[in-house]
Amino acid sequence: MLRKGMFIESVECSDLEFSGRRFLLETDSALHSILASSAENVLVNRVKSRVDCGIPVFRQADEDLQPKSVQELDQRTRIQHTVSQVTGILRDGFEDIKLGKFDIDRFAPAARHIAASLKASPHLLVEVTRLKTKDEGTYVHSLAVGGLMTGLGHLSGLEEETIKELTLAGLLHDLGKLMIPNAILNKTGQLTDAERKAIRSHPERGYMLLKQYPEVSDLVLEICRFHHEALDGSGYPLGLRADQLSLPIRICTVCDVFDALTSVRPYKRAWSNTQALKWMFDRGHLFDKKLILRMGSLFD
Ligand SMILES: [Fe+2]
Repeated sequence: MLRKGMFIESVECSDLEFSGRRFLLETDSALHSILASSAENVLVNRVKSRVDCGIPVFRQADEDLQPKSVQELDQRTRIQHTVSQVTGILRDGFEDIKLGKFDIDRFAPAARHIAASLKASPHLLVEVTRLKTKDEGTYVHSLAVGGLMTGLGHLSGLEEETIKELTLAGLLHDLGKLMIPNAILNKTGQLTDAERKAIRSHPERGYMLLKQYPEVSDLVLEICRFHHEALDGSGYPLGLRADQLSLPIRICTVCDVFDALTSVRPYKRAWSNTQALKWMFDRGHLFDKKLILRMGSLFD
């Protein structure tokens, strides 16, 4: 539970509700202000805290502070609600896939919810998905990438059916990470060669897993397998080059990296959208610059 002596990295609510970032929680009034906000997550820096925090991230569960009806929910709260719902759908769906039970239909509502949130506000969707806990990081990331791919699909003039495939591909692109131990995925220090190899195996592992199901389209399989390729051939698993990388694959790569850069993790601060877009734009040998510009216009 949140208490004085903890070092707060980030409170997941609008600045109007609580503007403090990166500070030592010392007063009752600051504590009460955080608890009275709509924040569902507060990121606590265990190392900088003066009390034993137990876990780095906690979920505020004060039911009295939650809105009472759908009508009372503002846009941001609705999107927060969608994100936690979809995260649950993904967690259950991924677990079932691991057990050999794949039901593509259970992802359809998740994709619809994400598309609706993105339409309501790309800014808010990105902001709400920015904070990722260790346990739910892969699911929230998949959700965010699904949303961003939907947006870039529209801005790229793709057909509705293809855009639906892109959303699904975003949700499933990192499925292979389920087979990588969390201790490796969440490691904050230097990776050993073996650990790096294990992480880099996730696109191929996800692809092999999904390939067993005929209902998964070639487009989704291709995106899952090649989302870590780069235009100059320096990516993995195959080191494909620009002329071998289709628009849907490039869209996934750009969305994947953008979400990673703009995310808060227990071990790193988030970059702003502008910082992330600029960093990627300066690396046109890796990413499709045209798509980075389109991503920028998603937030105009
Ligand atoms: Fe990935």
